[in-house]
Amino acid sequence: MLMNQMETFLVTSPANRIFQRCVEAPMLRRLGGRTPGARALEIGCGSGYGTKLIIDQFGAATVDAVDLDPAMVTRARHRLRRYNDQVRVEQGSADDLQAALGAADASYDAVFDFGIIHHVINWRDAVAEVSRVLRPRGRFYYLEVSAAALARPSYRRLLDHPTKDRFTAGQFLAELTAHGLEPADSWRTYIGSDYLAGVAQRS
Ligand SMILES: C[S@@+](CC[C@H](N)C(=O)[O-])C[C@H]1O[C@@H](n2cnc3c(N)ncnc32)[C@H](O)[C@@H]1O
Repeated sequence: MLMNQMETFLVTSPANRIFQRCVEAPMLRRLGGRTPGARALEIGCGSGYGTKLIIDQFGAATVDAVDLDPAMVTRARHRLRRYNDQVRVEQGSADDLQAALGAADASYDAVFDFGIIHHVINWRDAVAEVSRVLRPRGRFYYLEVSAAALARPSYRRLLDHPTKDRFTAGQFLAELTAHGLEPADSWRTYIGSDYLAGVAQRS
């Protein structure tokens, strides 16, 4: 589901870039380590700042990135133009990576989700796709927004998200496990149970 104007403004703001660079990416690095030389995938890349961090902070060799919103794809391609030989950005949905990127089974060393699976109507299909495209022992890095956060009046009033069948941290982790993605024990919630972060390894 596409972001509304307010969320687009927030996600593309300088403050969000600082938060992603100084808080989110370091937290995921602490939880799951760097990915030097990896062939990585980012689902829901937005304006492409996370893609840049996957190369700069995690050390990935290449990143394929996908976003549902053509306007975000344009922004990301512009931001990442200097990484031309390392990055590919395509429009498409995280729940069909074959259509979006031609992504083959077991073709990535690492997949990154900087807060997008809660936007996907068929979010379980997105988890299944992450599992399908990861190689055995490949790592899935996730930062997610729980049903508790999405139910808050501020979220409901200001932002657009699917309302049916959202997930608690426990439901998200159970879905990972059901698809052969073993969550590391280091996963954590923050701001109560509103947000969750962690790394899972493909069996
Ligand atoms: C909250 S933003 C996060 C963007 C980026 N990851 C960041 O941290 O700045 C959610 C992004 O997911 C994208 N999105 C929503 N549904 C999607 C889907 N089914 N497949 C891929 N991207 C999707 C939106 O267009 C938006 O760019």
